[in-house]
Amino acid sequence: MSFTIIGTGSALPKTIQTNEDLAQFLDTSHEWIVSRTGIEARHICVDESILDIALEASVNALANAQIKPAELDLIICPTLGGDTVTPSLACLIQEQLGATCPSFDLNAACSGFVYGLDVADAYFSRNGDMKILVIAVDAMSKLVDWQDRATAVLFGDGAGATVLTSGDSLKAIQLTAVGNQHALSIPWPKGNHPLTTGQPHPAPYLLMDGPEVYRFAVAAICSDLRSVTQKAGIALADLDYIIPHQANQRIIEGAAKRLKLSIDKFVLRVDGCGNTSAASIPLVLDELNRNGLFKSGTRIALTAFGGGLTTGACVIEWA
Ligand SMILES: CC(C)(COP(=O)(O)OP(=O)(O)OC[C@H]1O[C@@H](n2cnc3c(N)ncnc32)[C@H](O)[C@@H]1OP(=O)(O)O)[C@@H](O)C(=O)NCCC(=O)NCCS
Repeated sequence: MSFTIIGTGSALPKTIQTNEDLAQFLDTSHEWIVSRTGIEARHICVDESILDIALEASVNALANAQIKPAELDLIICPTLGGDTVTPSLACLIQEQLGATCPSFDLNAACSGFVYGLDVADAYFSRNGDMKILVIAVDAMSKLVDWQDRATAVLFGDGAGATVLTSGDSLKAIQLTAVGNQHALSIPWPKGNHPLTTGQPHPAPYLLMDGPEVYRFAVAAICSDLRSVTQKAGIALADLDYIIPHQANQRIIEGAAKRLKLSIDKFVLRVDGCGNTSAASIPLVLDELNRNGLFKSGTRIALTAFGGGLTTGACVIEWA
């Protein structure tokens, strides 16, 4: 027994920052950003806290699933971090929803949503009938250096949630991790103990080797999709939708070409949101679900990659 998705929800902060807006204070241009990434705009938390958008997405998912917060047995929150180190964002979401279940955050960077589904799957295997909220949220605008044009233009903020109940929609899932500090990292401030005085504190902003992450991402999408569909016993061509992590349109196009698949099989939503880290896949899931694109039997593959370096992929058959 695994799970079935019975509800989805999402939330984006209301402030939109276009490429032209960024070109006002960064040495960049709309043309450069679109041609290298496909990104045209991103949503940024200005008036909202991270908790605000996480809560909005969670409430939307619960309403879509037609269940009450008190019915939840577990809240898993894939995120790089919320507004506070502790309490965890998951605990604050639980409090605000009025739920009473165990709740925890999970950090697998942009692969976090698929990691969250895998953890949820293990709970269903152990406990059988449950209701689990997986709420993925990241506010990358708080983690990038707004003086660094090579990284700042790539990211945005958002939240995406799913409500899971026991079922057999999950046909296969797999995770990978290859520890690598150099390709993508966000240093943590080192604290202020007197004995550490004098040591330089790295700025707590995202550092990335863009071309290395690009190559890793294209290879990861291809190998993960091949092996997860094989585990599910279906051909790549049998998938109705592939929802990749929305980091860069060129990465997705490169993977489609290598896999000899039509780009039309891949859902591309990089343009309006940029890379929203763990939230990017559930944001798209919610949009497609609300637009009625998923029918009973629709086969969906999710494929994610990110800091760690981590990857995760799964095949879901809509119930
Ligand atoms: C970041 C990325 C778009 C850069 O594209 P690229 O084609 O590899 O570009 P390069 O890094 O080689 O830089 C090319 C030039 O553009 C410049 N440049 C970088 N960012 C720029 C920007 N925003 N505007 C204008 N020029 C920019 C660089 O300084 C460099 O200039 P130079 O040749 O004079 O040194 C690409 O590597 C990428 O998408 N990588 C993956 C990143 C990612 O998705 N990370 C998250 C994973 S979860």
